[in-house]
Amino acid sequence: MIKPAITTAILCTLLTTPALAQPPAQSTDEMVVEARSLVKAFGSSLKQALQAAIKEGGLTNGIGVCNTVAPEIAASNSNREWTISRTSLRVRNPDNKPTEWQELQLQAMDRQPVKNGKPVEVWQVSEASGQPEFRYMSAIPTQKLCLGCHGKSIDPQVKARVKELYPEDRATGFSEGDLRGAFVVTRAGSASVAE
Ligand code: HEC
Repeated sequence: MIKPAITTAILCTLLTTPALAQPPAQSTDEMVVEARSLVKAFGSSLKQALQAAIKEGGLTNGIGVCNTVAPEIAASNSNREWTISRTSLRVRNPDNKPTEWQELQLQAMDRQPVKNGKPVEVWQVSEASGQPEFRYMSAIPTQKLCLGCHGKSIDPQVKARVKELYPEDRATGFSEGDLRGAFVVTRAGSASVAE
């Protein structure tokens, strides 16, 4: 009885206000594909911005990019459904601290950041909050480029600038190949569960 009315309502919504239409239901596989592409876009924008800033004004200039541009790039790659961020077992910015679930994944990734030549990834659909939430993480191994700000011997000037911005910094002492952290992608209100 009620069904046709709902169907009509949905149809009308779709026909009249496409911008407000619900996003199509996505399977977990499709969400993994989307999460990977978000990570790729975020990772490469960040790396480009970082390299350009270091080239222009050295590592201390690069800190500015990580400090302000990283959260901006993360925000611009996020939207109402999808968010992307970074986390680590040893964070520089306390805002990036992992959740309990993320910490468990990071511990496993820390033992093996790369598998078959690719950063380790993991995902699940969690019902913990009462609504299905898709969560995806992808390991970030430490590269040479990272050592100037996250490595074992950091220029005193760079160190001082980091300390100024991040008095609680724990993100130093890494070697090439170590797990530096992970990208985190979440999709709230995941439509992967049939309605
Ligand atoms: C020029 C200095 C600099 C370089 C080089 C650098 N980082 Fe960072 N990194 C920072 C700063 C500053 C932050 C804190 C950003 C924030 O406030 O969110 C940070 C934060 C992070 C975080 C988020 C977790 C946390 O510790 O707060 C990850 C992950 C990370 N960096 C990975 C890398 C990787 C991987 C590389 C190399 C490809 C790299 N960084 C190179 C300065 C740097």
